Amino acid sequence: MKRYRDIAGDGGSDIAGQVEAQHVKLRQRLASVGSVVAVVSGKGGVGKSTLAANLACGLALDGWSVGVLDADLNGPTQAKVLGVRGRRLVVTDGGVEPPRGALGVKVMSMDLLLAEDATPLTWDAPRQDEAHTWRGTVEANAIREFLADTNWGALDALVLDLPPGTDRLLTIASLVPTLAGTVLVTIPSDVSHLVVRKSITVAAQTKSPVLGLVENMAGLFPGPDAARLAADGGIPYLGSVPFDPALAVSADQGEPLVVTAPERESARALQQIARAIRSALAPRAA
Ligand SMILES: Nc1ncnc2c1ncn2[C@@H]1O[C@H](COP(=O)(O)OP(=O)(O)OP(=O)(O)O)[C@@H](O)[C@H]1O
Ligand SMILES: [Mg+2]
Repeated sequence: MKRYRDIAGDGGSDIAGQVEAQHVKLRQRLASVGSVVAVVSGKGGVGKSTLAANLACGLALDGWSVGVLDADLNGPTQAKVLGVRGRRLVVTDGGVEPPRGALGVKVMSMDLLLAEDATPLTWDAPRQDEAHTWRGTVEANAIREFLADTNWGALDALVLDLPPGTDRLLTIASLVPTLAGTVLVTIPSDVSHLVVRKSITVAAQTKSPVLGLVENMAGLFPGPDAARLAADGGIPYLGSVPFDPALAVSADQGEPLVVTAPERESARALQQIARAIRSALAPRAA
């Protein structure tokens, strides 16, 4: 049997060349995107996807051309929230055409690839009991392909909706060296702050700027001060979005609240946050 060290070079697979080719493809695809912004939180269920969808539409309302990549492969929600569930994906020479949701926002999500509602995403591995070993790598590759194979066209901003977990940010930061910034989300509870404090540390360690912290579901319970959390972490505080059942209803109906009820307090807060992010990004997008 040949041993590893008996194989000259990479055994003819040209792994280094394949990886470089993928990097080049990704760079070429993102060259027509002004800014890539990631919405993140170590904590689940705090409103990352809600913020991502409303941020995308908020930017679109102000005339920006925007895309959303749902980087949550196992809990994809953006197709639903932006009203493109069930649309057929069309593949052209330029790549996969992303369907356009509310305000023409382009959407790509694993939800558009899985045929059945209840089909979970599972990873193929030589042995299923070892699938966990590969999950991180396969997930990163899937996101890379979504980014590189989607025909985003010219965009002012591409918003990435990340699944919960601080490690996910590191994956994205390594995949997208040109990441223009991260937006962190918390809710007013000690439990959330405990986790998001760590996310702020991780976000600050990446090379991309931290655009700021958003407090979501304000008023739902008397919690700690998010502005203080941002100040302690040395990052901007972007504002607070009140708890508002209308946000959940509009998400379920496939049209973000900034579009359907821009006058509501929560929608106005979200639009203001979108404007703050737009100003932070504008020099890069110009
Ligand atoms: N400010 C708010 N007021 C009322 N409901 C909200 C608010 N923000 C989000 N929601 C609702 O809370 C639920 C969770 O929100 P969302 O899916 O955006 O969280 P998430 O952080 O993306 O979750 P996950 O960690 O699973 O990805 C959704 O039903 C959403 O409509
Ligand atoms: Mg989500």
